Amino acid sequence: MDKPFSQACANNQAVICEVLERVFVDKKNVLEVGSGTGQHGVFFAKNLPHLNWQTSDRAQNHAGIKRWVQDHPAVNLIAPIALDVLSDHWPTAHYDAAFSANTAHIMPWEAVVAMFAGIGERLLLGGVFCLYGPMKYMGVLEAPSNVQFDHWLQQQVPHQGIREFHELNQLAMDAGLTLQEDNAMPANNRLIVWQKM
Ligand SMILES: C[S@@+](CC[C@H](N)C(=O)[O-])C[C@H]1O[C@@H](n2cnc3c(N)ncnc32)[C@H](O)[C@@H]1O
Repeated sequence: MDKPFSQACANNQAVICEVLERVFVDKKNVLEVGSGTGQHGVFFAKNLPHLNWQTSDRAQNHAGIKRWVQDHPAVNLIAPIALDVLSDHWPTAHYDAAFSANTAHIMPWEAVVAMFAGIGERLLLGGVFCLYGPMKYMGVLEAPSNVQFDHWLQQQVPHQGIREFHELNQLAMDAGLTLQEDNAMPANNRLIVWQKM
């Protein structure tokens, strides 16, 4: 099996890493939700060696993530655990950081709700959650490329679509997380940072 490859990950990992380096500076154990190909885990574990990076995803993505982990072994990069956010089988461990990229617009809304609730429960006090991806503000997608992307997502699967920032922030607040930062990122993406208070 060839390793799965995401050009988007290759494009965005360095700029995301710059933010994580700052906001995860005093963190140790990160749970990544929806690791996808596994590229982000490999890159962040290598470039942020003070972090233990726990990859996770639904079972169908594990073979690909394992290939990336096997080809780039690192003591702080941990093979994926099975985590469908809608299931009851969340890890029992607690983390002081969580990360998820390009998941909220792919999951059905009830899964986005479950992701925030689950992360809120598994984060320790002071823990930080970073969510990366495109967002809508007050119902508006400013970038034409995001308008097209949103349309395309909904044509592929009706439950998909770029989420409203304020609705995500409400889920975060319901989960005990307080907004810390909303970072503009290249290619009309955002990186939102919440902290469990
Ligand atoms: C577009 S991919 C993003 C993957 C990777 N984070 C990235 O940035 O390339 C969306 C990811 O969300 C995951 N996902 C979708 N529904 C999920 C669910 N219910 N629980 C956990 N992960 C889910 C998919 O398996 C996939 O890995």
